[in-house]
Amino acid sequence: MSYLTSLVLLFTLCCVKAEEESFLPEYIHPCTLADEDFEICVKEQIEQSLPSFAKGIPELSVPSIDPVDLHDIVIDGKGLKLNFSDAKMHGLSEVKLVDLKAQLGGDNESFALAVKGNLSLTAQYYADGRILILPIKGEGDALIECRNVEVYISTNLTHVKGKDDKEHLKLLAPSYKYDIESTTFDLKNLFNGNKQLAETTLEFANKNWSQLMDELAPPAIKQIVKTIVKAINKFLSKVTIPRIIIGYKERL
Ligand SMILES: *[C@@H]1O[C@H](CO)[C@@H](O)[C@H](O)[C@H]1NC(C)=O
Ligand SMILES: *[C@@H]1O[C@H](CO)[C@@H](O)[C@H](O)[C@H]1NC(C)=O
Ligand SMILES: *[C@@H]1O[C@H](CO)[C@@H](O)[C@H](O)[C@H]1NC(C)=O
Ligand SMILES: *[C@@H]1O[C@H](CO)[C@@H](O)[C@H](O)[C@H]1NC(C)=O
Ligand SMILES: *[C@@H]1O[C@H](CO)[C@@H](O)[C@H](O)[C@H]1NC(C)=O
Repeated sequence: MSYLTSLVLLFTLCCVKAEEESFLPEYIHPCTLADEDFEICVKEQIEQSLPSFAKGIPELSVPSIDPVDLHDIVIDGKGLKLNFSDAKMHGLSEVKLVDLKAQLGGDNESFALAVKGNLSLTAQYYADGRILILPIKGEGDALIECRNVEVYISTNLTHVKGKDDKEHLKLLAPSYKYDIESTTFDLKNLFNGNKQLAETTLEFANKNWSQLMDELAPPAIKQIVKTIVKAINKFLSKVTIPRIIIGYKERL
């Protein structure tokens, strides 16, 4: 390798790295820890950046979470075989922040937020068996619309040394709960397109949405929470603490 080549290589390496470190989307502004309204500042920051953040930050390899690709959801039991594949959850970029608690800088650092919004799930479904009392059979496109879903996520924070050898915040495994105001199911091509049978079953499913969601929602919500936490942690792993919190005393 010639001297010039190595110089160019060195320059490229250093500058690409520097660029990555200095990149922060213009919609994210740091909050000052010592400020009395630190929590309010964080809340405003998240409120403002949520729609953009949910669409991903390619410069930091933060993936989009709208839509979220879900793993297959399979329910097999109680006389019903129901599965959803190619499932995608839409709507996270439009959720509203309804609560936020950030305890930072002390011994036990924690972070909790609640978001509320209308979420919908598109998937390919396969159904065979009975839902509650009515028969159900078919396969095709599924659209499940959930109105006013509220998800509350609470996590503790830890500090890790990043690939850049600098200190970063990281969310630990979260605890969460959720509430759904109502759900409508639209399953295309039930009973091979027999309209009458399909209508009866869908009407029944929509009246009994709550029991159905008791089975369907937990695996979906679990994946959604995991995806959100993963996206936030990706972001935190790329951005050093002083870039987002002013006056934070690092520990590592
Ligand atoms: C759903 O069930 C059908 C029939 O048993 C099967 O062919 C398909 O692979 C299943 N899909 C998933 C995602 O489990
Ligand atoms: C932090 O949590 C630990 C364990 O729950 C507890 O013993 C300690 O008192 C807490 N410290 C503060 C400052 O809350
Ligand atoms: C969900 O949609 C309904 C009806 O369109 C609307 O009234 C409600 O405000 C929406 N909820 C949220 C949290 O945006
Ligand atoms: C956070 O840590 C505290 C102890 O410091 C513990 O009581 C609490 O359950 C933890 N929260 C989560 C969501 O793990
Ligand atoms: C399902 O809905 C039907 C019609 O509204 C209702 O009569 C029935 O009680 C519901 N089933 C359950 C288990 O709640």
